[in-house]
Amino acid sequence: MKGERADEIDSAKGICGKAGAGAPSPFPFHPSPTYDVASLRSTEFPWTSSTIYLNNASIGPLPERTRLVLEEFNRRRAAPYLLPDRDLFAILAGSRRLVATLIGATPDEIGLTVNTGFGLGIAARALPFRPGDIVLVSDREFPANVYPWMRLGDRGVTLELVPTTPEGWPDESRILERLRDPRVRAVAVSQVQFSNGYAVDLPRLSAATRESGAWLVVDAIQGIGQVPLDLGRVEVDVLSCGGQKWLLSPWGTGFVYVRRTLVSALAPAITGWLAFEGTDDLTQLTRYDSALRSDARRFELMTLPYQDFAGLNPSLELILSLGVERIAAHLRVLHAPVLAWAARTGAPVTSPPGERGSGILCVAPERVQEVHRRLKAARIICSLREGSIRLSPHCYNTVEEMERVAEVLGAGE
Ligand SMILES: Cc1ncc(COP(=O)(O)O)c(C=O)c1O
Repeated sequence: MKGERADEIDSAKGICGKAGAGAPSPFPFHPSPTYDVASLRSTEFPWTSSTIYLNNASIGPLPERTRLVLEEFNRRRAAPYLLPDRDLFAILAGSRRLVATLIGATPDEIGLTVNTGFGLGIAARALPFRPGDIVLVSDREFPANVYPWMRLGDRGVTLELVPTTPEGWPDESRILERLRDPRVRAVAVSQVQFSNGYAVDLPRLSAATRESGAWLVVDAIQGIGQVPLDLGRVEVDVLSCGGQKWLLSPWGTGFVYVRRTLVSALAPAITGWLAFEGTDDLTQLTRYDSALRSDARRFELMTLPYQDFAGLNPSLELILSLGVERIAAHLRVLHAPVLAWAARTGAPVTSPPGERGSGILCVAPERVQEVHRRLKAARIICSLREGSIRLSPHCYNTVEEMERVAEVLGAGE
């Protein structure tokens, strides 16, 4: 099966959670038709036979196809004459194209970056804020989406942390209310909250910011790859994402999306040499053409880690072949055993149900640290975040694995 192409895996022949032996599931839910999880596991994630990995919100694994591409790239990298510029630039062009396909954008709206924070920094420094402006951020956001805005104090811009709901979720109604204040010039939100999986209502925030004229900036690293997003249907101004989690890609990959009509209006605060039109011709670099590129490459800081983007591309191809809609549906099915355990024992679920939920499922049992240790001892890898056990399964996890989690959670009762 090694080297199997994405479109061969993309056959709607299986149902969720068929991998691994075991008794039929006691949980009364109906798996939705999806891809063949067993084949995906053995082909792309062979190590899943010995470890239950539910920590994609921290680090996504590299599929086998990606690992092999990286190995081959590094083989050529050892003798750089095997890697002509043409090939290196083709890798980056491929990354922009695949990212654009994934999020419903066009490649000229994509600038490649090395993580999420870089793109958020671009937004904070390139958007034309004026003294007295306010940026709204929900309290309890991941710090990558807080500090760049806090630092805007040096321009007389105020960061306003909007209190969360009693459940600890972003209070979208309150954000909408605050948007009536004309001093509010931007809202910066995570597509999905890192500590509870809350998936923000982007169409609602988009409509409200379009009406008020504020910019909408999205930290999408916890969303893209597990929650469908189509920027052709929901307008945001700047969106930033690292590849290391839900995109199953190497550290050092990421991108910033800038809405097309904003690209030419924004000048990057820090510029790389390939951000300029004049550097297309590598034989005449000292012409020093001061015109910034007309597309989002003006935000890129060369030299980028080509080897990492070589790895991003096969991972994105895999995700595209599975389909984010189907991954999202699969993850919801996976939650059922743990939700059933929580309902039975009364353990608090700190993730939202329904539409505002995502693939991240958080529970807050008593003696949470002890429970986390117990899960670890059972070779179940997950995180403890803000007082909750954070379970973040991905496309390759199974219902049987989640049943095992429920069993271990229940072992201390
Ligand atoms: C919401 C959110 N933003 C950003 C990051 C990471 O930012 P970066 O890619 O810059 O390391 C994380 C997790 O590490 C996160 O959960």
